[in-house]
Amino acid sequence: MSEVLNVSGLGVLRQPREVIFGPGQRRMIAPLVASLGTSVLLCTDERMVGTSECRDLIDQLGLAGVAVHVFSQTLPDLPRSNIMRLAEEFRGRGIEAVIGLGGGSCLDMAKAASLMLSHPEDIREYYGENQVPGATLPIVTVPTTAGTGAEISNFAVVFEEDKAMKVGVGSRHILPTIAVIDPELTLTCPPGLTAATAADALSHLIENATDRSKNPSASDMMNHLYVGKNVLTDVYCREGLRLMAASMGRVASEPENIDVRTDLMFAAYCGGMALNTAGTAACHAIQAPIGNLTHTPHGFGVGALLPYVMRFNLPAHPTSFAEVARALGVFRAGASDEENGGAAIEKVEELLKAVGCPLTLEELGVSPDDFEAIASASLLATRLTANNPRELTHEAVMEILRRAWHGDRSSWD
Ligand SMILES: [Fe+2]
Repeated sequence: MSEVLNVSGLGVLRQPREVIFGPGQRRMIAPLVASLGTSVLLCTDERMVGTSECRDLIDQLGLAGVAVHVFSQTLPDLPRSNIMRLAEEFRGRGIEAVIGLGGGSCLDMAKAASLMLSHPEDIREYYGENQVPGATLPIVTVPTTAGTGAEISNFAVVFEEDKAMKVGVGSRHILPTIAVIDPELTLTCPPGLTAATAADALSHLIENATDRSKNPSASDMMNHLYVGKNVLTDVYCREGLRLMAASMGRVASEPENIDVRTDLMFAAYCGGMALNTAGTAACHAIQAPIGNLTHTPHGFGVGALLPYVMRFNLPAHPTSFAEVARALGVFRAGASDEENGGAAIEKVEELLKAVGCPLTLEELGVSPDDFEAIASASLLATRLTANNPRELTHEAVMEILRRAWHGDRSSWD
């Protein structure tokens, strides 16, 4: 079991220079941005650009002496052509900093824009880990959903249309400079989006809390973004899971409760802090091809897979699942780690159900005819599968898919 344990006692985080969190803290955006430059690009989407919050932000930036260029055509899943269109429009215009306002795609667009406005190539030249050759423009992230963790991650997910698959640009050079996280911005988040993003955040916390520890060498630490579960990511997972247990079950019935929204947004931030160095695992590897096939939201896909992946992983590292049970408030003294892990899985199912996340792949519209293709594509995401505490074979993914499709909640050996 030592391969999944943190025998080196490692702790490592990668994080923005400044994080401002709290209801109403969006008032800090304009003065902070003014400290970075006098000409900025605001990346957002068609939903957000029409909101009073976005108009207020543009007004505040103007009052702070900042000229604001707006790109409001950010598309879901961030297609490569969307990024290159922005690059064509805004290269050479003297922009000094980039703001992302919106969900994960808008925040990742801000990272991509910062890269495109600093380096001359096509975005595809930078796919992969550590391919960005040097500094980029300062990035300010302002999330309006509680889920992706993109506000603090050093990763931008891009949909590569030529291959019809999601790829990523991962680099310390696109780590946001400042994240301003204001839960009030999620009060008007629609129910479906709230549910999908909450399921995503929960999956980040569970996957990072139960990831493999890699005991990385110095060269691993320098060359790879995901260096394994460690004592610092564990701190964030524990707090994020505690907040999820307290509030995820309430957000569907109390969407205007700022305390509930604040808990979810802090939990999502915690998930982001953990995934920046530990990394997501089997759920995310398997969801990507499912998302491509079904065009269902990322959060619903990872959520629907999560309990079945947890059951698969439980025998590989029961202690970490017992710790998840403790964080979720369902730990029983005297019970075995396996029993506590089982209680954690049931609690996760309860939380997913409370927000209306599908609990089977059949509900997501997956066809059993596609299982082979999904399993093969999942195993190509080696950056993610390497984080999983139990080895993912083709047959194991097939069995996870079968169980997740049928709703088979029996335990694994
Ligand atoms: Fe995710």
